Parts: sequence; C-alpha cells; structure tokens
Amino acid sequence: MAIREIIRMGHPTLRQVAQPLSVDELTSDEIRELVMDMVDTLHDAGGLGLAAPQVNRSVRLAIIEIPGGTTRYGVIPPMPLTVFVNPVIEVVDAASAGYWEGCLSIPGLRGFVERPQHIIVRAHDLAGRSFQLELKDFLATVFQHEFDHLDGRLYVDRIEDSRNLVYEDMLDQHEAPGKRSIE
Ligand code: NI
Repeated sequence: MAIREIIRMGHPTLRQVAQPLSVDELTSDEIRELVMDMVDTLHDAGGLGLAAPQVNRSVRLAIIEIPGGTTRYGVIPPMPLTVFVNPVIEVVDAASAGYWEGCLSIPGLRGFVERPQHIIVRAHDLAGRSFQLELKDFLATVFQHEFDHLDGRLYVDRIEDSRNLVYEDMLDQHEAPGKRSIE
C-alpha cells in the first residue's frame, strides 16, 4: 500500500476518456493494488472521493467515502468506503441545484456548479457483481463530480459563469448566502 501522486489540472490523463475494466482485469493484482493505494491516497488527501484517472491510471474506477453528519449545507447521510467499477448514471429528475465544488486535482479553488439532484447509479464491485444506488441532493452531486473524471471532465467545465470560480480561502471569507459548499 502506498500514497500515490494526485495529478492536477493540466495533466493530459485527466482529459482522457477512461477505459472500462473487464472482470479479469478487476481481479488482477494490479487493480487490487491500485484500489488499496487509492484508499490510502484519499485518506491522506482528505477528500470525499477519488477517481483512478486522478492517480494517472485511465480506467473506469472510483472510490467514494462520505463521513456524513451535520455540516453547513445540512445533514449529510454517511456512505462507507465503496468502490465503483464502470459506473453509469441515469438522471431520474433533471431538476438541478448547485454547490461550491472542490477537487483534489484543482487544489485551492472552488466552483459553483449546478447538477441534477436525483440519479440512479449502476456499477460493479471488485468481484464483478452489479449493484445500484439511488441518490439525491448532495450525494447526487458528489457522484456526478466523481464519475465525470472517468469521461475526462472536470467541474470547471460545468461552471456557467466564470465569476463562480474562486479561491477557497476567499470563499470562506466572502461566501454568498444561499450557496452551499462541498468540502
Ligand atoms: Ni474531482
């Protein structure tokens, strides 16, 4: 197990469409090691999720772990550390809401992004078994942010008004009322 380098915006791997993983690949030592290292890397960096392209491996795999609890954007339901392989998102309701998003590949910045708030995620686990989750509100945003990485997309691509891209320390001092942040 090891902490890997998180590549930052500007690295070409973050802009590639990542490759799906077959069941054979999933059970390989290389992918098991990648997942263990991603867990270490996420815990070291302190984010909610990490996608494989962020550690310079262009495969459709991401991990998400949400401690939950009461935050300034409301009460967030916890989610234990979960591995998502080849995830697909279905939008149930296109009604959108926005949050100030951050990204471990874009340190120091925050962007206000609106996304649909009711989705279904279908994915496979590390054994190749399929599962699905229905997600609303904050969690729907977190998953869309994370899985965008697998398509070479970053949250900055989804900011509609460039005035909504700011430094997080400035945001902390001057946060506009009514806009919620994702840590
Ligand atoms: Ni990100």
